[in-house]
Amino acid sequence: MADAYAQAYARSLREPEAFWAEAAEQIDWISRWQRVLDDTRAPFYRWFTGGTLNTCFNAVDRHVRAGRGQQPALIHDSAMTGRCRVVTYAELLDLTSRFAGALAALGVGKGDRVIIYMPMVPEAVVAMLACARLGAVHSVVFGGFAANELAKRIDDATPRVIVTASCGLEPGRVQAYKPLLETALAEAAHAPSTCIVLQRPELEAELGPRDVDWDEAVAAAAPHDCVPVAAIDPLYILYTSGTTGQPKGIVRDNGGHAVALSWTMKAVYGVDAGDVYWAASDVGWVVGHSYIVYGPLLAGCTSVMFEGKPVGTPDAGTFWRVVERHRVEVMFTAPTALRAIRREDPAGELIGRHDLSSLEALFLAGERSDPETVNWALDKLGVPVIDHWWQTETGWPITSIPRGLATFDIRPGSANKPMPGWDVVVLDEQGRPAERGRIGAIACRLPLPPGTSPTLWNADERFREAYLTQFPGYYATGDAGCIDEAGYVHVLTRTDDVINVAGHRLSTGAIEEVLASHPDIAECAVAGVRDEIKGQVPLAFLCTKAGHRRDETEVVREAVALVRDRIGPVAAFKRALVVERLPKTRSGKILRGTLRRMADGEPYTVPATIDDPAILDEIAAKLGPRTTPTG
Ligand code: COA
Ligand code: AMP
Repeated sequence: MADAYAQAYARSLREPEAFWAEAAEQIDWISRWQRVLDDTRAPFYRWFTGGTLNTCFNAVDRHVRAGRGQQPALIHDSAMTGRCRVVTYAELLDLTSRFAGALAALGVGKGDRVIIYMPMVPEAVVAMLACARLGAVHSVVFGGFAANELAKRIDDATPRVIVTASCGLEPGRVQAYKPLLETALAEAAHAPSTCIVLQRPELEAELGPRDVDWDEAVAAAAPHDCVPVAAIDPLYILYTSGTTGQPKGIVRDNGGHAVALSWTMKAVYGVDAGDVYWAASDVGWVVGHSYIVYGPLLAGCTSVMFEGKPVGTPDAGTFWRVVERHRVEVMFTAPTALRAIRREDPAGELIGRHDLSSLEALFLAGERSDPETVNWALDKLGVPVIDHWWQTETGWPITSIPRGLATFDIRPGSANKPMPGWDVVVLDEQGRPAERGRIGAIACRLPLPPGTSPTLWNADERFREAYLTQFPGYYATGDAGCIDEAGYVHVLTRTDDVINVAGHRLSTGAIEEVLASHPDIAECAVAGVRDEIKGQVPLAFLCTKAGHRRDETEVVREAVALVRDRIGPVAAFKRALVVERLPKTRSGKILRGTLRRMADGEPYTVPATIDDPAILDEIAAKLGPRTTPTG
């Protein structure tokens, strides 16, 4: 069986065009492509140029035409409201075509951008699919971001329309979206013509002159048909953290994306049309785009959409209740969610109370899966627990166990093996292939397979600089790790300023930019420090301005509030230390690794380049007893 993997993998690298042309047969094309792989603008590669299709047609209409109209397409299970809503493919077609009509009536057409700022409700999926139906480009913004982050995205994407809801539901609080949107619009230079607002009963929003009520917009609309788009036309933009406060607008195209995602549903996740698939993520993240919305729907599965948390809504058994209730066959979550569950239910008593006989496999991603968590889940669930590694940029897993092709042993702590299409290498500092087992930068040989980001929105040069120049001929993933003797890839850390907090990707640089705007802060550095549940959390080191005599606790409190206000609660920024000076090299580079190790309580050495070890002593004193720095 492992041979099927080896064969598919070898073929995908040897004959990529034949491999992906075959996969493309799963998609309904309006007109077929002229070239499978277009390298005329290398290193910017395009897939299926000349082809036309509609992604919404492939995700919805064709299943209704094929007789799946009465099958649930979406099951919205809200632990926050206690309600469950099933949307069949026929209903999804109706909702989507009418909402597309509403958008079209507001002037949205092919190529126009629409920002979707919504909580986990089926209407968020309807809005995404309606954009795809029109050939408009959606950009979903995660609800945990603050107004300032939304404003940045509004200015970069320049949407014609923004779709939002009156509120999101977080444990213990109802988050009003409308005031955040208004603040963002006041900050942004660009103004959309209309905002469509979905009213949720938990908190209704007051509508202003620019606003249209969702229900009224839909009631007045005529259903809109699918608009043919080019395979290389953009389907969506999804912003993600980079090294600076300016997020990167990851672009996804229509053709390659549809081909790659439908291929992964069978080959990687091992599911078919009619199967129940659940990605416990949020539509605001790439996992939500790929595996709550497009992947399962392209494959004709039933996709579960869960609103709630793994613990506390109401307890650590909520995931297992959802699996039992909807007979979930394949599930996907982040290790942080399992750690949170395990802390509450270490013996798995809550797991034992549910009938999980439908569950065939659990996939993990978003951060490295620590072996203890994987072993715990393997033991308690009794199904394969498969770590797989991917990024917003890649749109689908670079490494995994391809359940539909092969099974091989799980090595807890590794992210398993490269998927077909991915030529993964570990490079040393000189850009040469590292020896087996050696840690280095992980890169993927170009061209990347279909479905991966062809560029950044309006920023080809930034794309080239960020990913293609460090190792010519390769895509630099920004992750470091090694490949072991059996070919398993171990993804260990980022090579840049990105940190992973509870499976959410954050930029320490963006947090530093916000902190530096505080009038009393002269200099700062943010490092990701270990957290038992969230994997990492940001910790800031703050130097206040000379002659500054304010109470440190007050400065820290203000710094925490500032980050929450400017980046959002999702930054989980709660800790900061005021220090005299930051540890730096003679050339002025802040020693982030040293800061992180100190904060984690790991042994550290003061590099010879540090002029003044007293600074480190001071920080160590604030953090509690630590290994004494050595010279
Ligand atoms: N809208 C508004 N606020 C949000 C939000 C949203 N969509 N998502 C998170 N937040 C807020 C939370 O309410 C919390 O606010 P608080 O500081 O007032 O408590 C803050 O952002 C931090 O949220 P989070 O990091 O999610 O922490 P948590 O303590 O609420 O939950 C976990 C911890 C581990 C249970 C949770 O992070 C989790 O389930 N993570 C999995 C993430 C995931 O699925 N990632 C996708 C990759 S597969
Ligand atoms: P995002 O773009 O938000 O999906 O975050 C991508 C980053 O998360 C990657 O570059 C990795 O640093 C990290 N990541 C995602 N999945 C894994 C995994 N399975 N193992 C290790 N790191 C992961």
